[in-house]
Amino acid sequence: CRIVVLISGSGTNLQALIDAARNHDLNDAQLVGVISNRPNVGGLKRAEQAGIPSVTLNHQDFPSREAFDSALLEQIEQWRPDLVVLAGFMRILTPEFVQHFAGRMINIHPSLLPKYPGLHTHERAIAAGDAQHGASIHFVTADLDGGPIIVQAAVDVLPDDTPTTLAQRVQAQEHCIYPAVVRWFSAQRLTMRAGAAYMDGKPL
Ligand code: GRF
Repeated sequence: CRIVVLISGSGTNLQALIDAARNHDLNDAQLVGVISNRPNVGGLKRAEQAGIPSVTLNHQDFPSREAFDSALLEQIEQWRPDLVVLAGFMRILTPEFVQHFAGRMINIHPSLLPKYPGLHTHERAIAAGDAQHGASIHFVTADLDGGPIIVQAAVDVLPDDTPTTLAQRVQAQEHCIYPAVVRWFSAQRLTMRAGAAYMDGKPL
């Protein structure tokens, strides 16, 4: 199973996948390419250190979202992936792009969706006084952070949590669940049909 990872930042989720692949925890999944829409981010160094080919496609170099997405699609397809993994990729993708990879693109979002799609999720969970917060992995559809959920991990919100301390505990969970989901996908256990996610043929 060939995997392309899209990033925008520090790439700690990418690192979790690199480490899992190295430990043979991803089945036959291979990380074949990494793309960042931001130059010089930490995740690109992680890819380089792991010997994974990487490319920067700076969205600011493109005249429109459509132009960026078509260059992105072309670059991804050069690596012939079975799965596209969004790991802290902070760009909204066009419906055409999303449709092209329907059922073979997943995203991790730092909230217990459907709560808090979009940005600043840790701040919002604390401001709302939530007892629990977490992360969700979902198939990507044209509905932003709204695709069918594959798995979620919850953490307790502690009385003295700041967005930073809460984010750290959520991210530790992200680094456990993302490799697991990639392993399931590579074992062909996960599918998306008619806008719903299935594991071993059973609805999730
Ligand atoms: C993660 O918390 C992810 O859920 C969010 O952005 C963060 C990316 O972190 N969308 P990293 O680049 O994997 O370190």
